[in-house]
Amino acid sequence: MPSAMTIEDDTAPEIQYQKGVKQFYDNGHLLQRVPKKYILPPSERPSTNMEEPNVATLNFQLPTIDFVDLLGPNRSHALQSLGNACEKYGFFQVVNHSISDEVVRNMLDVNERFFDLPMEERAKYMTTDMHAPVRYGTSFSQTKDTVFCWRDFLKLLSHPLSDFIPLWPSSPVDYREVAATYAEETKELFLTIMEAILESLGIKESSQEGKDNNILKDFENCSHMMVANFYPPCPQPDLTLGMPPHSDYGFLTLLLQDQVQGLQIQFQGKWLTIQPIPNAFIVNVGDHLEIFSNGKYKSVLHRVLVNEVKSRVSVASLHSLPFNSTVRPSPKLIDEENPKRYMDTSFDSFISYISTRETKNKDFLDSRKLTCVHNDKPN
Ligand code: OGA
Ligand code: NI
Repeated sequence: MPSAMTIEDDTAPEIQYQKGVKQFYDNGHLLQRVPKKYILPPSERPSTNMEEPNVATLNFQLPTIDFVDLLGPNRSHALQSLGNACEKYGFFQVVNHSISDEVVRNMLDVNERFFDLPMEERAKYMTTDMHAPVRYGTSFSQTKDTVFCWRDFLKLLSHPLSDFIPLWPSSPVDYREVAATYAEETKELFLTIMEAILESLGIKESSQEGKDNNILKDFENCSHMMVANFYPPCPQPDLTLGMPPHSDYGFLTLLLQDQVQGLQIQFQGKWLTIQPIPNAFIVNVGDHLEIFSNGKYKSVLHRVLVNEVKSRVSVASLHSLPFNSTVRPSPKLIDEENPKRYMDTSFDSFISYISTRETKNKDFLDSRKLTCVHNDKPN
């Protein structure tokens, strides 16, 4: 009996689920229902019933930042829109950016081909070691999740690039070349956006002395991880999620998605579905930028829905300070009216936090809040 049949019967040993959700579709097998392992308790399931209070009634367009404005004479206006987007939604999209359609298309395409490889090939990169430079896996926190998510992923450490490229998948044959170009170009894009974000916070690098002065330099040497996500079709998409509500840990995430919708962000207690725009990047504020901005810019909860018909591929590029650095609120954003709201935070504290529990929502960021100001700025 093929293994997928066993899984459908819900008698599969735990080890089967560790191999991910793509296997359900390998060898032309079509799953009729979602195995128990992926069924969320009713309160955590995604609802599309517009009668319910947490479901948005309108399709939603994220604030859009046009690079022609940001890098031209309209910069101050674009910076204002950028700042507003980071305060209000923690998300925006960028259009007319520096990365060519071809580079974008190739990156989605090569990852799609990677996930199409036979399981034995993908399994070469399977590990639960969080420090592994290349990690193929499934769900969200694979070793902690009690209910699994409908997602497989490939995580690639990407800085310093030349150290890591030889460790990346050698199949498909063009994988390394395509992903390396993409890594270089997303890093440049990150630096341009980060500089604009600092300016929008009133932290101008060139004209001031002091600690923050070096932060752009630090970013040049930043940590960079790329995560390719694969969400196969799901026979009962109302029972499960591709990714649970979470926030991203770094400064910024640059997300590239194909034309299949699935990403939702939380805004005023409702889940808003983001409509894909071809070749646009979705950029979101991560926990470290919320901390650095002393709470001004918001690291917002987001999640991923799956659907019955189409598989979906996305690539998230996560950027932060070097792994050995400490993130703290910028002294320039602390004064009597705005006391320091977050503890100094190292990557180690994040890794040890997520290694010890099933992380949900914004647990980690909440744990870094200074208690005297804990609840005064609800998100
Ligand atoms: C992520 C993420 C969203 C998506 O990788 O952290 O939120 O649409 N991805 O795949
Ligand atoms: Ni995310």
